[in-house]
Amino acid sequence: MTGSETAVLREMRWWDIEPVLALERELFPDDAWSRGMFWSELAHARGPGATRCYVVAQEDDRIVGYAGLAASGTDSDDGSAAGADIQTIAVTRDHWGTGLGSRLLTELLRAATAFECSEVLLECRVDNVRAQKLYERFGFEIIGVRRGYYQPGNVDALVMRLTDPSTPANP
Ligand SMILES: CC(C)(COP(=O)(O)OP(=O)(O)OC[C@H]1O[C@@H](n2cnc3c(N)ncnc32)[C@H](O)[C@@H]1OP(=O)(O)O)[C@@H](O)C(=O)NCCC(=O)NCCS
Repeated sequence: MTGSETAVLREMRWWDIEPVLALERELFPDDAWSRGMFWSELAHARGPGATRCYVVAQEDDRIVGYAGLAASGTDSDDGSAAGADIQTIAVTRDHWGTGLGSRLLTELLRAATAFECSEVLLECRVDNVRAQKLYERFGFEIIGVRRGYYQPGNVDALVMRLTDPSTPANP
């Protein structure tokens, strides 16, 4: 079995924040989220008005990946969410290329479908080819560029969109 198959995907809870933070700082050294950002996101992840879905991948006692999605806006007709943003997705380096990123993304798209979102957006560093390939495999398309979005370094962000997350392309 690969590392991906042995990892269990489950809802992220507050007690996961410390191990997730450690991974976050390792994988996003320039612009890691703070502890408070994770707390704030998880505060909107439960209950009838929930707008967030956060998942972790756990292997034995270790968190080896995590991902989060935010539903935003409302459809004027029925009040359902109109769109969603991939807030974050990350896999520990020793599990890259095992399909775990794909499993996490599949889970987020399932959540977007449950939130009745008609499209999913994300930003990705122009130099993050591995992530772009993952998104393209799921049918995301580049729809724009945000100049100097990532600081420090003044790195551009690609804005990518997937229309109809209920039918991702050939993940
Ligand atoms: C981007 C990231 C989440 C991808 O995670 P990953 O686990 O390597 O993703 P996957 O294994 O699903 O896909 C990567 C490659 O492995 C291949 N792969 C190998 N074994 C696989 C398997 N059993 N099942 C599916 N894919 C497999 C895939 O085909 C894919 O290749 P491709 O993209 O060239 O088509 C990970 O590299 C990461 O955490 N990077 C640092 C944080 C980051 O940049 N996050 C994104 C911010 S926009």
